[in-house]
Amino acid sequence: MGTPFELFFARLQESLERGTFVRLRLTPRRAKMEGADRDSRAEARLVQLKGQNQLSVTVQQGSQTETRNHPVAEGLSWIRENLGHPFGNAWLGTTAKDWQLTVQDGGAARLVGHKPAQTTVPSRVHDERRETILDDTAGDWMKALGILNAEGRVLPGKTDKFHQVNRYLEILTHLVRECGWLEPAAVPKLTLADMGCGKAYLTFGAWHLFRRVFQWPVRVMGVEQREALAAAGNRAARAIAADGLEFVTGAIQEAPLPPLDALIALHACNTATDDAIRRGIALGARLIVVAPCCHQEARPQMQRPEPLAPLLRHGIMEERLAEWLTDGLRSLYLEWAGYRTKVFEFIDTGHTPKNLMISAIRYREPFQAEEAREAILKLKQFFGIVHHALDPLLGS
Ligand SMILES: C[S@@+](CC[C@H](N)C(=O)[O-])C[C@H]1O[C@@H](n2cnc3c(N)ncnc32)[C@H](O)[C@@H]1O
Repeated sequence: MGTPFELFFARLQESLERGTFVRLRLTPRRAKMEGADRDSRAEARLVQLKGQNQLSVTVQQGSQTETRNHPVAEGLSWIRENLGHPFGNAWLGTTAKDWQLTVQDGGAARLVGHKPAQTTVPSRVHDERRETILDDTAGDWMKALGILNAEGRVLPGKTDKFHQVNRYLEILTHLVRECGWLEPAAVPKLTLADMGCGKAYLTFGAWHLFRRVFQWPVRVMGVEQREALAAAGNRAARAIAADGLEFVTGAIQEAPLPPLDALIALHACNTATDDAIRRGIALGARLIVVAPCCHQEARPQMQRPEPLAPLLRHGIMEERLAEWLTDGLRSLYLEWAGYRTKVFEFIDTGHTPKNLMISAIRYREPFQAEEAREAILKLKQFFGIVHHALDPLLGS
């Protein structure tokens, strides 16, 4: 059988040999660590360099990051030496199964298998950024926002956000084409708002796409209720002389905004996603794209109608259904408001479990789609939902 530690290494080695390796993450046992070790973390990727497989290991300690590429055997020795101390936890992602190793005080270890977060092999290209929208030309603002280190490498704690934003921008490109805005004669002076923009990664990303990649005259506005974040966004925009990019402090519901062509939101908390949708409709946005965050509104109201009651006794099923219902209703409210919608997973769950996206393009007069209105009312009645944050649209 072997110890959990040996089994973990056997799984790691096997995944590297069979090509099923996705990534390895090492983190400290936070409560137990002192000083700089408390914040240290490492991530290993498999990359091809000059035709050879190498383990590219990025270690972050406080504000310092260092990436080293090791031949695979050497990389494995490095992992062996560092597991236990300073890293008490290891998460191995493979396309077949994920493995979590926890090393306890005194060296005892526990190994747990999980459903794989990612079932496809990631790119083995050494510098993934060369293939993405966020390539070297985005280096200035990605460094200013702390996504990249001084050498231009994505910081280990930022890789998921980097992939989310990059994928969001790829999808935005397709949607912009669907809107007809990529036709040379149709290039608008586009006005776009990013609602609940937080640290502004997506806001800068959208500005980069429209201003630098498409080279359009664009106005991109980030809306954020936390003043310090909006101020930091404005400072970073000034630092790179980003024309047409600005940040507004305020609530999504009422921040001063001009009429919009497009509205985006990534993980705006709970009903802030609904506030964003309502604001987008009210400001005339032709394109609305939201990736919702947590869902807290429907579940406490939801009844357990027959024949679903026996399934909904299980908390996880009730939770998933509440999320599914909330997002399904959001797409119906958008249809009622004259939009054609799509609901899909925009990125692998390995990068975020909050991976649902709702895209909407307006194609008809608002508040005429009676079939959507009826579907909303029937669903609400069936599940006993008394209040949904988009209900005010029904009075329109
Ligand atoms: C989970 S963060 C996501 C930030 C960013 N969009 C991203 O994906 O990195 C949600 C952000 O929305 C902001 N927010 C939540 N509700 C808001 C509201 N009603 N008005 C403005 N900002 C809001 C929060 O302050 C927070 O910064």
